[in-house]
Amino acid sequence: MATRKTPPKPPAKRPRKRVAVRDGEAPEPVDDSLAAMREAAKGCKRCPLWKPATQTVFGEGPEDARVLFIGEQPGDAEDLSGQPFVGPAGKLFDRALAELGLDRAAFYVTNAVKHFKYEWRGKVRLHKSPDASERAACRLWLERELAAVKPDIIVCLGAIAARSVLGSKFRLMAQRGAWQTLADGTRVLATVHPSFVLRQRGDEDRHAAYAQFVADLSLLKRKGRKG
Ligand code: URA
Repeated sequence: MATRKTPPKPPAKRPRKRVAVRDGEAPEPVDDSLAAMREAAKGCKRCPLWKPATQTVFGEGPEDARVLFIGEQPGDAEDLSGQPFVGPAGKLFDRALAELGLDRAAFYVTNAVKHFKYEWRGKVRLHKSPDASERAACRLWLERELAAVKPDIIVCLGAIAARSVLGSKFRLMAQRGAWQTLADGTRVLATVHPSFVLRQRGDEDRHAAYAQFVADLSLLKRKGRKG
């Protein structure tokens, strides 16, 4: 009678060693997936912004998104929730997309810098712009996100995002709303940051800034066509 062979046992999984991350360093993602990057970025200490921040705010959206939006850095609401563009600027962004019939869920949305930089003003945490060394430290994560998603179109919201993609000579107010093309063929559109719209003082200025923001984004409906 034939004896039934017992199947070989799968090799025992060795628990992954938790390596202490030192200041100036970041954990390596276990693979190239966004999930692995997001996990590793939680422990990022490449610049000092990790200390006062509540958490790393990594990008969100489908790995196969064709359009990738880049903002500047998380704000107060994003720092607390762990998600990009959920505060007042995010609400304005959502409103503009909805008005154009564009579905945010189809897009990958991230920031050039993944920790909230702020200063206390009384009981309020006020946004402070990340400096060049903080932007440079965080660039690694943006590059990894771009490499994983490989979008056809990048939309930069604000000057910090635009310069991180188009270089330091890019002049947002002169070149907003005009398609640019990267060396690898990726189409890039830059517009103002939604906070710029919110910061306009009078109703008239705010409405005009919003209308121009929506007009810039409406170019997405032409899918990055040249010209
Ligand atoms: N501003 C940004 O640039 N990004 C956010 O996620 C929120 C506000």
